[in-house]
Amino acid sequence: MLTSASEAVRPEERLRSLDAIFEAVPIGIVRVALDGRLIEANGEFVRIVGRDARVLMGHPWSEVVHPDDVQRCKDHVAGIATASSEGSVELRFQRADGTTCHTECRLAIVNPPSGGAASFVGYVLDVTSRQRAELAREEAHRVAATSERLASLGTLVAGVAHEINNPLMYIRGNVDIIRYAAEDALAAPDVDSARTALAPIERSTATAIEGLSRISTITKGLHQVVRQSAGERRDTDLNALVEAMLLVARPKLGNDTEVRASLQATTTASIEPNEIGQVILNLLFNAADVVRGASEGTITIRVSEDDDGHTIDVIDDGPGIPEADQTRIFTPFFTTKHTGTGLGLTVSHAIVRAHNGQLTFDTNPRTGTRFRVRIPRDITIPEESR
Ligand SMILES: Nc1ncnc2c1ncn2[C@@H]1O[C@H](COP(=O)(O)OP(=O)(O)OP(=O)(O)O)[C@@H](O)[C@H]1O
Ligand SMILES: [Mg+2]
Repeated sequence: MLTSASEAVRPEERLRSLDAIFEAVPIGIVRVALDGRLIEANGEFVRIVGRDARVLMGHPWSEVVHPDDVQRCKDHVAGIATASSEGSVELRFQRADGTTCHTECRLAIVNPPSGGAASFVGYVLDVTSRQRAELAREEAHRVAATSERLASLGTLVAGVAHEINNPLMYIRGNVDIIRYAAEDALAAPDVDSARTALAPIERSTATAIEGLSRISTITKGLHQVVRQSAGERRDTDLNALVEAMLLVARPKLGNDTEVRASLQATTTASIEPNEIGQVILNLLFNAADVVRGASEGTITIRVSEDDDGHTIDVIDDGPGIPEADQTRIFTPFFTTKHTGTGLGLTVSHAIVRAHNGQLTFDTNPRTGTRFRVRIPRDITIPEESR
C-alpha cells in the first residue's frame, strides 16, 4: 500500500488504519481458503450476504451462494486455481432473510510473502440496483415492443376490415340486383319480359365474382404476411428462376417495355423458390406499372453474388417514388393504384425477411427506382419467424 510521504506513521497505526479501511470500504472483500472455507471478510461482505459474521467464518462460502449459482462459483474458483480462467463472475448470494443480492466477484490466488498456505482473495461488488435497473429497462423494452406490435396489428386489422368491406359492399349490391331480377322474372307475364328482367344478371354476377376474387387476393396476401416461416428451402439457380418469372410476367410487361436481364449467379441460393419467385414477380409488376405507357420504358433485372450472398436488383426508369410515399410503401394496403391491393411489397418484405434477407430500394425522380433483394448465404431463421 502507498502512503503519502508527509504521513509517516508507525507500523501499528498503519495496521489500524488499514483495518479501518478494510472495514469501511463499500466493496465486499473476502479471503477464502483453497478448499472454499471463508477465512476473513469485511463488513460490506457481511452486509451483502446478510448473515452473522461469526456464523460465516470457517464455513464454505458456497453455503451462502444462491443454489443455482453454486456450480458456476465452483467452476470459476477451479478455473482460477488451475490458472485456466480469470476475470469476474456474476454470483447471487442468498441472505438469511430470503432476499437475493446480485454481485460481481473477482478472485485471485495470493501466496503470503512470509510463506504459509495460499488462499483466494477477492472483491464482491453489490450490483443489485444495477441489475434491477437493467431488468426494468428490458421490461420497458419488452412492453414497448409488445405495444408496438399490438398497434401495428390494430392498423393491419383496421386495414383488412376496410379493404374487405369495399368489395363486400358491391358484392352485396350486386346480389340484391340478381335477387330483384329473379323476382321480376318470376312475376313476368311472358318469356320475353322474363328475359328482359334477367338481363342485369350477367353483369352483376361478373362484378360479384370480381369482388370475391379481390377478397381472396387480400386474404391470401395476408396469410403470407403473418405466417410463421418460409417453406422448405432448396438450392436454387436464381438465374433460371428469374428467367422463369420473366416468362410469367411477359404478358403484363407490355410490348413497349424493354426488358434487360443480366444473370450472373454462379452458385445456387438456398431459398424457397416459389416465394422468392413471387417477390421477383411483385417487383417486376410494380416496375411494369410505372414504365407502361412510357414510349421507351426499360426494366432491368440483375442477379449477382458476392462472398456474403446473392443480390437481385429490379430497376425501372419510371418516375420514382414520391418522397411522401417512401416511408409508406411497405405498409399493408398502401397503394396509389386503382386496382392495387397494396400488399405486394408487404408480402415481398415478409418473404425476404423470412429468408433472413433484406428488401431495400433507391429511388430518384430523374432516373427511376431500384428494388434490391439481398439473400445472405448463411441463412439462419430470424427469431420472430420461428
Ligand atoms: N417501382 C416503383 N416505382 C414507383 N412507385 C412504386 C414502385 N413500386 C412500388 N411503388 C409504390 O408503392 C406502392 C405499393 O406497392 P405494392 O406492390 O405494395 O402495392 P401495389 O402495387 O399498389 O398493389 P398490388 O401489389 O397489390 O398490385 C404502389 O402503389 C406504388 O405507389
Ligand atoms: Mg405491387
